[in-house]
Amino acid sequence: MTTNKPLVLLTGASTGLGLALAKELIEDGNYRLVLTARAKSLKCFSAAGIFESDEIYLRPLDVTSKEERIAVISECEATLGGLDVLINNAGIAMRSVVEDASADDRIGLLEINYIGPMRLAALALPGMRKRRNGRIINISSAAGLIGMPTMACYCGSKFALEGGAESLWYDVKPWNIHVTLIIPGFMRSDSFQNTQTTKWSRAAIASGQKDPYYHHYRNMEKLISWTMKRTLASPESVARKIVRVIKQKNPSLRVPVTADAWFLFLFRRFLPRAIYHWVMFRALPASDRWGEISSERSVPPINSTTNNISIKYD
Ligand SMILES: NC(=O)c1ccc[n+]([C@@H]2O[C@H](COP(=O)([O-])OP(=O)(O)OC[C@H]3O[C@@H](n4cnc5c(N)ncnc54)[C@H](OP(=O)(O)O)[C@@H]3O)[C@@H](O)[C@H]2O)c1
Repeated sequence: MTTNKPLVLLTGASTGLGLALAKELIEDGNYRLVLTARAKSLKCFSAAGIFESDEIYLRPLDVTSKEERIAVISECEATLGGLDVLINNAGIAMRSVVEDASADDRIGLLEINYIGPMRLAALALPGMRKRRNGRIINISSAAGLIGMPTMACYCGSKFALEGGAESLWYDVKPWNIHVTLIIPGFMRSDSFQNTQTTKWSRAAIASGQKDPYYHHYRNMEKLISWTMKRTLASPESVARKIVRVIKQKNPSLRVPVTADAWFLFLFRRFLPRAIYHWVMFRALPASDRWGEISSERSVPPINSTTNNISIKYD
């Protein structure tokens, strides 16, 4: 360790918001950075012109790997002077209606978007408590504020992150440890292409107009890709706001960082729930047509061998 600059650990720094934030923090120059990515993605750093130095440490971290979580936090604590800021950015999105997701799909997404971040926080906390100082910044989403059709697994994982981080805020406040939820809405980035589908949502999308969820998938996909291409918010503009939050003495628990996230935050907060859900459903593109196909699914159901109950996808 060569300086006393605060040590920041960032997950999912290989692309999108994570890479923009890594660049912004390097440009800022006031931090030592542990930039992490899955082993297969580490090459993204050299491609982006980011190399190891006295103040930049590039480490493999799949947030679902216990060994890698322990290795990186142990190094921060044992040899890099202690972790000051943990930024839980790594996350994936998944397009699937509830019927089309298996237990593995749900658990896999929770492992990355909620359980990994909470486990990293738990590993970082003993050192932060001892030093009576620390920040845990979680990249949430407008999908952690509102449920969205075809995004139940993603919204569920971000709602979990919101609840877990809000509880953590109370737990660690007495030790001067600040917990923040950064809430982007849509960002103009390539991450829409990275949205995962499930075996059954892919089959439903492929079977077109014959599938009962055809209008759900088609209209939500169009709406999301249209909005992501046109929004003014970019990973770079959101990264700049996150760096400002890192520098704040007393950051808020929830920080919406895009105009649409602010709108949804206030809309959800102040409109009575029954009216809110009615307005939102009406506002969805072509939602009056959503129930018009009621034929059997074209995807073959998997019959459970027990109790004669037909469990389609688990
Ligand atoms: N884009 C948006 O409009 C938007 C809106 C609201 C919130 N967010 C949130 O912002 C964060 C960043 O998203 P993004 O838009 O930058 O998406 P992105 O471009 O798809 O980047 C996601 C990052 O997460 C990493 N990642 C995925 N699984 C991982 C794992 N198991 N362990 C470690 N890293 C993993 C990816 O690494 P690989 O390169 O190895 O795949 C990648 O670096 C996410 O938490 C996302 O939910 C995004």
